[in-house]
Amino acid sequence: MNAILPFVTDPAVSATDFRGAMRHLTGGVSVITAGRGRDITGMTVTSVTSLSVDPPTLIVSVNRDASSFPLIRRLGAFGVNILHADQIDIAERFAGKGGLKGADRFAGADWITSVSGVPLLVGALAALDCEVEEIVERHSHGIVIGRVRDIKSTTRSAALAYWHGQYVAVDQDEDAARLVEVSVPARGRRVV
Ligand SMILES: Cc1cc2nc3c(=O)[nH]c(=O)nc-3n(C[C@H](O)[C@H](O)[C@H](O)COP(=O)(O)O)c2cc1C
Repeated sequence: MNAILPFVTDPAVSATDFRGAMRHLTGGVSVITAGRGRDITGMTVTSVTSLSVDPPTLIVSVNRDASSFPLIRRLGAFGVNILHADQIDIAERFAGKGGLKGADRFAGADWITSVSGVPLLVGALAALDCEVEEIVERHSHGIVIGRVRDIKSTTRSAALAYWHGQYVAVDQDEDAARLVEVSVPARGRRVV
């Protein structure tokens, strides 16, 4: 029989322990964007996950206190910009570094306006225009389900990840070269 577990906080699991465990989870870094015209904002996230291919949907977990949340809810659209490894400065701006807010976070990079009106980053690995299908508000966050309406992608490949509290470049070419460096001497080694 399937028991339905009540929502209780286990006092044995502290916020510190939980954060410590989640630091091991490597996350791809994206900037989500919201709003229209000058009334725009955005934020750095690692919580973007593909939900389904047919139809093309994704989810992102957004703090309900974040400036993007009310705009996403009101306008029913948002952009997902999957960052390239050389876009750490953009990730930092949209995480609130330097106290930048709203439209000021967009300065210094090129943006286009998507069909639904949200800004999409030129030079992102991929930029997806999403329409809100549903928002599930749970605890401090809203789980936003987005239907992907349009995609702009590049042939660039080095991705930006976040792991153990720091940005890490995931570069296929560099990683492959490093693998060769490690594996060639091992293969060449003679067993005596
Ligand atoms: C690498 C990284 C990943 C983040 N991922 C998320 C996330 O998935 N969801 C979220 O709500 N905030 C996330 N944040 C925090 C927001 O980027 C940050 O709180 C931002 O300043 C919120 O925007 P606001 O200042 O306009 O409210 C992340 C921050 C960093 C540095």
